Amino acid sequence: MASAMASFKDDPDYLGPISATPQKMVEEMLAVAGVTAADVVFDLGCNDGRVLVTAAANAGARGVGVEIDENAVKKARTKAAEAGVEHLVEIRHGNACAVDDLAVATVCFAYLLPKGNAKLSEKLMRSMAPGSRVVTYVFRLPKEHWDEHLETCKAVASTRDRGGGGGVDTSGFNKIFVYRVPETRPEWCES
Ligand SMILES: C[S@@+](CC[C@H](N)C(=O)[O-])C[C@H]1O[C@@H](n2cnc3c(N)ncnc32)[C@H](O)[C@@H]1O
Repeated sequence: MASAMASFKDDPDYLGPISATPQKMVEEMLAVAGVTAADVVFDLGCNDGRVLVTAAANAGARGVGVEIDENAVKKARTKAAEAGVEHLVEIRHGNACAVDDLAVATVCFAYLLPKGNAKLSEKLMRSMAPGSRVVTYVFRLPKEHWDEHLETCKAVASTRDRGGGGGVDTSGFNKIFVYRVPETRPEWCES
């Protein structure tokens, strides 16, 4: 699997490395996006599924995670079962670039490299329903496509204290971006 992932890094559909949003930021993100039991949350590249498991356990939201890495898929399914939310959370093993039912998402979360966000940018705008939200962590969506539709950018300072007091202020990059899909799709996305 390790070598399969290594070669996948050169694939145009490679969206980002295995990493996970810190739990504190998962909770911030769900609060900033106002996720409730009425939501269907997608996480494109869901790794261990923590965003969806937290959304289901804390808010009762339904979730769909798509993940290319088989081990991560297993972890996510286990995590959902352990939290008792497997009836709310579906974890798919596959390529997020090929997802064809984003229209049912009311919130789509993505913690991906800038090239991953760029790869999915048009698909998100074309496929998601007007009024639905896209939430990204650390990296924003391409400015030329999405800045007009940015509702919130929240920077969160780290509470990590390395012993000497004060800790490290990570608010320069520790950011949550919440966008809303407009009622009328922009011209660039009709072509
Ligand atoms: C930075 S991690 C984010 C994990 C999770 N969303 C979170 O916030 O905790 C990016 C994930 O995307 C996955 N990934 C990369 N390219 C993918 C693709 N084309 N389809 C599905 N998953 C992909 C990686 O395996 C990795 O688990």
